[in-house]
Formats: sequence, C-alpha cells, structure tokens
Amino acid sequence: MKNNFQRSHFCGDISESLIDQSVSVCGWIQTRRDHGGLIFVDLWDKSGIVQVVLNPQIDKLAHQQAQDLRGNFVVAVVGNVRARPEDMVNPKLATGKIEIYVDDLHLLNRSKTPPFDPWDNQDVTESLRLQHRYLDLRSETLQRNLKLRYEVARCAREVLHQNGFIEIETPMLTKSTPEGARDYLVPSRLNPKKFYALPQSPQLFKQILMVAGMDRYYQIVKCFRDEDLRHDRQPEFTQIDLEASFVNEEQIYALMEELVAALFSKTLGQTVETPFQIIKYRDAIDRFGTDKPDLRFGLEIVDLSATVAGCGFKVFAEALASGGQVKAINAKKSAATLSRKALDDLTEVAKTYGAKGMAWIKINEDGLQSPIVKFFDKEMLDRLIEKVGGEIGDTIVFSADKPKVVSDALANIRLALGKQLGLVDEKKTCLAWITEFPLVEYDEEAKRYVALHHPFTAPFDEDLDTLDSAPEQVRSRAYDLVLNGNEIGGGSIRIHQKEVQDKMFKLLGIDEEEARTKFGFLLDALQYGAPPHGGLAFGLDRIVMLLAGTHSIRDVIAFPKTQKATCLMTQAPSDVDLKQLKELKLKYDLS
Ligand code: AMO
Ligand code: AMP
Repeated sequence: MKNNFQRSHFCGDISESLIDQSVSVCGWIQTRRDHGGLIFVDLWDKSGIVQVVLNPQIDKLAHQQAQDLRGNFVVAVVGNVRARPEDMVNPKLATGKIEIYVDDLHLLNRSKTPPFDPWDNQDVTESLRLQHRYLDLRSETLQRNLKLRYEVARCAREVLHQNGFIEIETPMLTKSTPEGARDYLVPSRLNPKKFYALPQSPQLFKQILMVAGMDRYYQIVKCFRDEDLRHDRQPEFTQIDLEASFVNEEQIYALMEELVAALFSKTLGQTVETPFQIIKYRDAIDRFGTDKPDLRFGLEIVDLSATVAGCGFKVFAEALASGGQVKAINAKKSAATLSRKALDDLTEVAKTYGAKGMAWIKINEDGLQSPIVKFFDKEMLDRLIEKVGGEIGDTIVFSADKPKVVSDALANIRLALGKQLGLVDEKKTCLAWITEFPLVEYDEEAKRYVALHHPFTAPFDEDLDTLDSAPEQVRSRAYDLVLNGNEIGGGSIRIHQKEVQDKMFKLLGIDEEEARTKFGFLLDALQYGAPPHGGLAFGLDRIVMLLAGTHSIRDVIAFPKTQKATCLMTQAPSDVDLKQLKELKLKYDLS
C-alpha cells in the first residue's frame, strides 16, 4: 500500500450524501463481474459491501489490473461516488443506490481459491467451515453474532458498573472447584507430580473476595469443564460471574432483572417485563416435567395417579404399584392433526427418555379412539377426561413409570408437541426464576448425597433442623434463570458460616481431611468475618446464542470446539514433544 494511502470510509458507509466526492475504501473482493468494457466489483469489509466500477476510460491501468482480481483478494481503491443509473439500483443493498468509479486501484494481497465462499456457505459442512474459521468469520451471520456478543458483554459491564460492581480477575491456574464436571488439569513443571486445575468457575475466589470486603464483584470470565458436549455446551465457555455481600434473593433478582432487561433493550430493542415470574422447583417439575420450562406455551402436565388408581390397564397399575406415577398432557385441538406417525414419533421421544411407551386417547366426534380405552370403565374414563379438561378434538397422551422417567418423558413430549402443533411463539420472551431447589439429591451410583447446585449453597434457615434427619427435603437458596426453556444463569445465597459449611461437607460424605485438602482455604477464610453473600453466573455464550436466534453455541464463539472438544483450525489438542513431557516429569502409556 502506498504510504500516503488513507481509508476515508468503510465500504458499507458510502451513501448518497457522498455523491460526486472522492472516497477511498479497502476490503476483500466478494464478486467480480466483467461486462466487457466495465468491470464491477463488490468490495466487502466488516461494515457491508459497496459496488466499485472500473472503467478503462478513467484508469486504464486499474482496469487492466482488475482483470486479474479474484474473490477474496484484498484491495484499496480511490474513486468518485456516483448515483447508479435508475435501472441498476439494488434495493436489497444499503449502498444500493450508489457506486464508486475507480481512479486508482491497489492490489494489497492475493488469496488462494478458498475451499468455500465465505459469503455463501449454506451447503458447506461445519467441519470445513471450522477448519477455515477465518473465512467463515467473514460471513454476515458470524460477523453479526460476534458484534452482538461484544454488545452483550459491554452492556453487562455498564449495568454492573452503574450498580457498584467492579471487575476483578481471578486465577486460571488454580485448584479444582466442584461444579459437577471433570477438571482440565495442567501439570506444574516447577512442582513435579503436582497439577493445577483450570477453573470450572471462579466460585470460591468470588466468595473469598466477599470476605475481603470487595462487596460487589463481577468478571466476564472463561470457565473450563471437561464434560459431554451438546448444542448449548462448550468445554471452555464464558460466564458473566458476579457476587455481592449483604444481599438476599430479592435484591439479586432485582439487579439481574435490570441487567437482563438492559441486554434485551440494547441488543434487540425489546422490552421485557419485570419482575420475572418465580416458579418453585417442585411446581416446575409438576407442571412441566423440568426445571427449565419453556413458558411460551401451555400443555401443562396433569397428575392422574389418583384418578386411574385401580384401573385394569396393566401398564398403569404396575407403575402405581411400584411407587410410580401416571401423568398426562392434553394436547388441545390436535386430534385431527396428530397422525398415527406423529404419535409414533412422540412415543419414540418418550422412549429416548427411558419410558417404555406412550399411551394416548383421541376424543373424536364419534367417540374415543385409543389402544387403551378398552381397559377402563366408563366412569373412570369420564373422570380422567374431566381431570385433563378433555373436549372433542383433543388428544391426551400418557406416561406411566417412576417419577423421574415420567417427568423426563412428558417434558420432552411437551416440547415436541409444542413444536408440532405450532404453539411456540418465536417472538415471545418468557423469563422465569426457578427457586427452592432441593439442597441435595441421592446419587444411586455413588451411594451418597450430592449437592444439586454446589456445596457452597445455603440451605433454607427454617429447614436446617431436618438437615440430618431428612436431607432430601431441605430446600436450598439456589435460583436459576430460565429463558424460553434454556438455563441462562444460576446462583445462590451462600453458606457464610464455617459450622454450616462443615455440616454440609459432612452430609455430602466429604470428611474433615478431604474438606481441608480441597477447600481448606475457603474454610479458613470463612472464619475471618465472612459477610452474608450471594451471587450468580450467566452463561454468556448461551445468552448470545438465544439473542442471535441460533441453535448452536458454536455460532457465537469466534473459535469454538467440536463435539469432541477439538479445534479443527489449530488441531488442538495435539501431540507434544517428548522433551516437554520430560520437563514436566510426565510419562504416558504409548500402547
Ligand atoms: P453453573 O454451573 O450453573 O453455576 O453455571 C452458570 C451458567 O453457565 C452456563 N454454562 C455453560 N455454558 C456453556 N457451556 C457449558 N459447558 C456450560 N456450563 C454452564 C449456563 C449456566 O447457567 N459458580 C456457579 C454460579 C454461582 O453459583 O454463582 C456456576 O458456575 O448458562
Ligand atoms: P401394550 O399393552 O404394552 O401394547 O401398551 C399399550 C399402550 O400403552 C401402547 O400405546 C404403549 O405405547 C403404551 N404404553 C406402554 N408403556 C407405557 C408407559 N410406561 N406409559 C404410558 N404408556 C405406555
């Protein structure tokens, strides 16, 4: 580039107000069309595209050079902005009314023929796109998503700053924090056979910052979890993490609602209603089968266990006899649209979640249609239909099994039905706090209690008496924030007294020695004037994913990992030199 060249505008910012003015723009060639005499180039940069015209009569040299230009070449042009002839106006383009007639063209760099067109990548496999992420990131969607991500982070910082929070960094090379996943470990060269863990979250550090009197902390922070990946999970992801002292749930809710409302208004121009509704965990499970319900539609679950008690249908009777449940969903006005195949598909959904089948009854004009009505007397059928509010045109679907299976099956049948029947209003934003989670649950495999949230969450004061006798009944002061069926954040009021923390570890089968080795520093800190405190962490990637309206978390991360936790661009994880292993005093089995 000539030393004196200076860009005057971004491509997408050239408008009619600049007609007859000289401008200089730079960018990548998106397309080049040679119309004999004139060559038209769509020049792209992050702001958009502008049409550049090379006319041999204006600059012969530039015109000659332009004949060699190919897609993705990098150029700078100086030229005059002109109005396009009326029949050449492109209403789809922000710059569609003008074009730049080139006086001077500089080829800044060439490009190999790319394996796919960055601006037209619909049919390209994701693995090829991830391998050449730098090309894919030029696409309109990914450019938009990363800008949105930046806006979300910026807005969060602003709101938190205004509320007296300061951003404090916590270590990446640290000790394990239990958030339920495996740790990523980093060997220490200076301390052979010792390992750091990458943080699954800054949980313990942020609590210690409260002991340190920081009062209000936040951090937009990378977290690392070695767990099975899904469309909304990455091994390294980002949290908007925060903690505050001398607060209760209501104060946290109000602060977070202000933050979420600001995010929606800043990024989508959308107003969300506050306060958000609060649903107790137990009610969420009863009504929707899940603790992250999609509240954009109804189709609530009805418990029919008492109604069908004593019925002649073996499946139901056996489920009830073994301590299970019979529950149903009334899919209103679906009898005509739910085909046999659709019902079979729903049965498959139920089976994926451990159910043995899915019974159904259609209430047609001419009577009931169902594989199971023959097992019921009329009176029980009438009661059952009344209980679910059944009317002509409805389909009732049933699940009978252990409570967990019934909940999982019906929760997912409900989602599938919502989609199939077109009940999900994509424009709706339904936010809810899920509260009063059980503090612990019994892990059949490990044969011990495990914390539902994490071991630092405070129990309800009024439930403390039953911590020893009936731990499963103790409610925790944890809360999740759910957006349209997705958990976008979670947190709790914490245990701030060492005695309670000791008790909690004991309940979780963590003996004193283990507690000291793993969390001694926290237990120590709690003894030096820990204030009551609580906080929350949002999944930044998930929030951006939902705001962007995409289904894959990879679409909002610049350099994401695959489902197998690999990076196709850098080829990480990769082999390392034997020398590096030796320095770390590590050996590994080559077999
Ligand atoms: P939690 O484990 O619930 O809480 O995490 C908080 C939020 O982080 C997001 N999230 C993820 N996003 C992408 N990929 C993942 N693998 C992943 N795992 C979690 C979710 C989730 O709601 N220390 C506590 C917070 C606290 O108590 O303050 C914690 O980490 O959106
Ligand atoms: P069967 O008597 O096993 O043929 O089942 C009759 C109907 O009950 C079929 O529609 C099955 O899909 C359904 N069914 C089987 N097991 C269950 C279950 N656990 N819960 C609800 N319906 C079931």
